[in-house]
Amino acid sequence: MTGSAAAPVSRQLCPRCGKELPLSFAKSSCPACGGLLEVRHAAPGRRGLELRRIFGDRRGSVDVLDASGVWRYRELVLPDAGRDVVTHPEGNTPLLRLPRVSSWAGSPELLVKHEGHNPTGSFKDRGMTVGATVAKRLGARAVACASTGNTSASLAAYAALAEIPALVFVPAGRVAAGKLAQTLAYGAKTLLVRGDFDACFALALEASEKLNVYLLNSVNPFRLEGQKTIVFEALEQLGWEAPEWIALPAGNLGNTSAFGNALRDARDLGLISRVPRLAAVQAEGANPFARAFREGFARRHRVSAETAATAIRIGDPASHDRAVTAIRSTNGVVTDVTDDEILEAKAIIDGSGAGCEPASAASVAGVKRLVREGVIRPGERVVAVLTGHVLKDPGILLRYHMETEPPPPRANRPVEIEPRLSAVEQVLREDR
Ligand code: F0G
Repeated sequence: MTGSAAAPVSRQLCPRCGKELPLSFAKSSCPACGGLLEVRHAAPGRRGLELRRIFGDRRGSVDVLDASGVWRYRELVLPDAGRDVVTHPEGNTPLLRLPRVSSWAGSPELLVKHEGHNPTGSFKDRGMTVGATVAKRLGARAVACASTGNTSASLAAYAALAEIPALVFVPAGRVAAGKLAQTLAYGAKTLLVRGDFDACFALALEASEKLNVYLLNSVNPFRLEGQKTIVFEALEQLGWEAPEWIALPAGNLGNTSAFGNALRDARDLGLISRVPRLAAVQAEGANPFARAFREGFARRHRVSAETAATAIRIGDPASHDRAVTAIRSTNGVVTDVTDDEILEAKAIIDGSGAGCEPASAASVAGVKRLVREGVIRPGERVVAVLTGHVLKDPGILLRYHMETEPPPPRANRPVEIEPRLSAVEQVLREDR
């Protein structure tokens, strides 16, 4: 080859001060100003219709990269990943029309993107396949994260696949049973920290800096590259006809940031002609981002978080700044909903046969609220993301259906009987 060296396909960039770093830089924040780094790729050389065709042709292929709903979009995720990726595979989640849910939310054109169909039951797998691939490429000695449960389950599974030791920091007594069980089963070293998520995160950050372990929280820019594919896949399922709205639950704000980046890429590459508006939904008891939005993002808020949706029980979201960019650049909104609204939405989603964990239901509860407030109009198409599987949090389900007094309106009380047909008949009679 002659001529000058080719420009790198991808690099890391600090959006705050403009510093550029190679992909091999193994920290999540800028060494110059402390801003969170982002990954930027060179334009793939193809655009619009041609890119759409390439992605479409990969569907149904058994090739290990094409079979993944993340790596199918590799030009926009990690173009130089090669073939040595750590994949289960992930993604390929359904976009569902659930009439009972749409009618409850007052949004006839509502569709739900069910990320609970991922290998470990949450959207985290889409980021973790990329994060674990990079960790392996860097030769990481160990990987670590702080988590409200889903990230730790996903990290544990992908680290096991990559054969890298994993260390997780979770708030003691505040992680849903399904998530803790997964994390233990997949073999991560699990530290039950006597503190909340925000304390876990501070500790994980310090450990990653001082103990030479690679941090795989959503501050890691490669995680966000993988999570962008929730949006790419939903757009492709809609024939690249952008919906008016995309609604998602918001906690540490990594996913909100990833969605903003995905929509930027999709618009810049001509995959869509119109950018959907993002609706980020928080729990009222863990709503620092909603508070900031109501003040025009004049300042950052920190709260002492409390909500039954433990996945989003976060008071000081790490990706605040870039999530502000995501909301502003999509003309988006941020709202919050009460735990009662979340649990009612969950009961409707569960009762429709789809099911989801509490935090996921916040997206649908948020849609209902925004329709009621006239922000979302009933004729507008909305994609609400269900971020996690119904089995993630069996504790809250069993309490809701079996223990809460008086029984909530949608409680499905089981009935204990003697092993006799007459007992069955009696139950059926009483049910009429
Ligand atoms: N929904 C679920 C089910 C989650 O687990 C999370 C985050 C979110 C929504 C919010 O996403 O943090 O990117 O704004 N869970 C993290 C974890 C914090 O540790 O599993 P976010």
